[in-house]
Amino acid sequence: MKPLLALAMLELAGYDYGKTLIDLMCGGATILIEAALKARNIPHNYLRRDFSFTKINVFDSRVFEIFRENFLSQSNNGVYKIYGIEKFEHHREGAKINCAKAGVDDTVFLNLGDALDYRTYPQESFDMIATNPPYGVRMAIKHGLKNSIHSF
Ligand SMILES: C[S@@+](CC[C@H](N)C(=O)[O-])C[C@H]1O[C@@H](n2cnc3c(N)ncnc32)[C@H](O)[C@@H]1O
Repeated sequence: MKPLLALAMLELAGYDYGKTLIDLMCGGATILIEAALKARNIPHNYLRRDFSFTKINVFDSRVFEIFRENFLSQSNNGVYKIYGIEKFEHHREGAKINCAKAGVDDTVFLNLGDALDYRTYPQESFDMIATNPPYGVRMAIKHGLKNSIHSF
């Protein structure tokens, strides 16, 4: 899932840092990472430097760095309740790596569990569930839409 889509989901759902959030099928933890960044007031995509707009000739890297530092200085290290459940260990391992790379491994809590079995959920009450479930069907784009029509 694209991080920007995950962030848009959270914005539309009205997530803010005060809310307890769980993704019941967290995969690589994209939704949880975006929630953690939002809760800690860290700008989306803060690690990225290869934006296309940096090639525009009026782009000034000094000004960009000043803005960047200014935004980052407003981040916080609060404690938030952001949880993920994932059925498969290899996906959970990937999620852990992604959280560490994003610098939010101390903010996101990942359980090995089954969305269909509430006994594997963390002992919490949740304000929100935000999830991107498996659909079971992938569109075969390379063969064209004609060959990938499914009945739903
Ligand atoms: C579409 S992926 C989620 C992708 C995720 N949003 C991301 O950006 O990486 C769905 C995930 O749900 C997991 N999953 C499937 N059935 C599950 C279940 N019953 N309980 C928990 N996780 C499940 C799959 O292993 C997969 O990682």
